Amino acid sequence: MSNKIALTGIKPSGTPHIGNYLGMIQPALELAKEYQALYFIADYHALTTVKDADSLKQLTYDVAATWLALGLDPEKVVFYRQSDIPEVMELTWIISCFTAKGLLNRAHAYKAAVDENISVGLSPDEGINSGLFFYPALMAADILLFDTNFVPVGMDQKQHIEISRDIAQAINSNYGDVLTLPEAVIREDVKTIPGLDGRKMSKSYDNVIPLFAPANKVRKSVMRIVTDSKRPEDPKDPDTDNVFAIYKHFADQEDVEKVRQGYLQGGLAYSQIKTELYECLESKFSKARGKYEELMQDWGYLDQVLLKGAEKARKASIPKIEKIRTAIGID
Ligand code: TRP
Repeated sequence: MSNKIALTGIKPSGTPHIGNYLGMIQPALELAKEYQALYFIADYHALTTVKDADSLKQLTYDVAATWLALGLDPEKVVFYRQSDIPEVMELTWIISCFTAKGLLNRAHAYKAAVDENISVGLSPDEGINSGLFFYPALMAADILLFDTNFVPVGMDQKQHIEISRDIAQAINSNYGDVLTLPEAVIREDVKTIPGLDGRKMSKSYDNVIPLFAPANKVRKSVMRIVTDSKRPEDPKDPDTDNVFAIYKHFADQEDVEKVRQGYLQGGLAYSQIKTELYECLESKFSKARGKYEELMQDWGYLDQVLLKGAEKARKASIPKIEKIRTAIGID
């Protein structure tokens, strides 16, 4: 096993879906076999949008239970809640003093919110909290605090990792080599998992297939995936169809090839392939769903796991923040 560090976080702002699974949970679990892994729940990031205490709590446990049900081993992976690591907050301030404001102006999420305001005739910063603006700085602190080498993330987070690198470089060029430059690990083949309406699967579009919803709900979601209106007997294009785009990640290679031929030749109804996709999802996730439901009944256990993880994480974060403080002249 390499002694390089893989680190990633999930923001508990919605229940995890199969796009999260393919884009980052599964690759992160793979990376954990090879590297020292630190995976955490980014609850302070979620606070930029989740303003109800009970919801934030519920979603935090939801994300914790999801990782554990999918096989994260908390004995091997350092698994914690961001808010249990106070050094993250301290580093965020230090970082903000080395982060050009213009860099944050250009961050996608903030820029999109500003552009949206302008397009409907509101003032640019209407309704935008500073937490959303500083989001990338907090994320850089998450990453740089642990000398992270690799960050498994979905495509939408690429710019955030680049910003973290820019910040680390700014600090290093002032103080010498204090911080490690992180690198994003992005799965090229799952860049675009379509949601039910054909747009990218995302909680903000409300078009997701949840990972651990009850089976009938998953089935209903799958049946709602938008297709074109070709009849069962018509030949179809597997490369533009939303159902196939998801199916190919979950079925055996051999079945994927068979279904691809079925599309090209005609004679395969969309409803049939939706049923197959549903069955693949059931066989892949039903056991984990049972585990997830069990864990969600036991928040005390989840707390225990997360606190133990935080204790391990702080064995690295405390000496690191001390080193950074010395570098900047505050110690
Ligand atoms: N911004 C990430 C998301 O929305 C969550 C996150 C917070 C994160 N801090 C991180 C991801 C550090 C990777 C590394 O999913």
